[in-house]
Amino acid sequence: MNTRFRMAIGLAIFTGTGLMFAALAAGDKEATAAKAEQHILAVLTDLNENQRQGNMNCTEEDGRFLRVLTEAVNAQHVVEIGTSNGYSGIWFCLALQGTGGKLTTFEINAGRAALARENFKRAGVDNRVTLIEGDAHQEVVRINEPIDILFLDADKEGYIDYLDKLLPKVRPGGLILAHNTTNLASSMRDYLKAVTTNPALETVFVHQHDQGIGITLKKRLAP
Ligand SMILES: C[S@@+](CC[C@H](N)C(=O)[O-])C[C@H]1O[C@@H](n2cnc3c(N)ncnc32)[C@H](O)[C@@H]1O
Repeated sequence: MNTRFRMAIGLAIFTGTGLMFAALAAGDKEATAAKAEQHILAVLTDLNENQRQGNMNCTEEDGRFLRVLTEAVNAQHVVEIGTSNGYSGIWFCLALQGTGGKLTTFEINAGRAALARENFKRAGVDNRVTLIEGDAHQEVVRINEPIDILFLDADKEGYIDYLDKLLPKVRPGGLILAHNTTNLASSMRDYLKAVTTNPALETVFVHQHDQGIGITLKKRLAP
């Protein structure tokens, strides 16, 4: 065997071993991700069955919908107004596991904030979450990074104020999701009017249940 031939065989074995290790590592990563997803889904099922009362959570279908949108836009930063016990936040985190992003969530009620912290930890997603306790109308000024998805799910009369304060921080191509858009209190009407008449926005509504979610796109090219 001449030297060149030996070198070629050596290189082939080296490359083959490298590829084999890479495939094993990729397989490990997939298995870990699948296990994490199963664990998160089990926690969500438990919250749905045992903590729903008094916590005003979105439905499971809405949770899945939030997950789909978050992963589809490859969100790096989700901002949620109205954490409650963390149910919808954990759905966001399920998507953020895939995108590598993070969640900032606001809750005014100390008891619910404490429960949410426990639940984020139990689901193993607490490393992705910043929970800000206090009145979000004041506290949102602390957001200084671009927002990919803004989820409004707190005081309905406050939606218009949250929109005014946070729209400049939503990136072009980002989404504003508003829960309970079938609530036609006059304050919600102000919000609905704002998101359906601003030419820089495109809004559609999805009614999976009787609650409704408004989905507003901040256009990339604003007219
Ligand atoms: C409908 S629940 C949120 C449900 C949660 N997004 C879910 O689906 O699991 C509304 C929450 O908003 C909180 N909230 C109401 N007004 C608020 C405010 N000004 N600032 C922060 N949180 C507020 C309430 O305490 C309540 O926990």
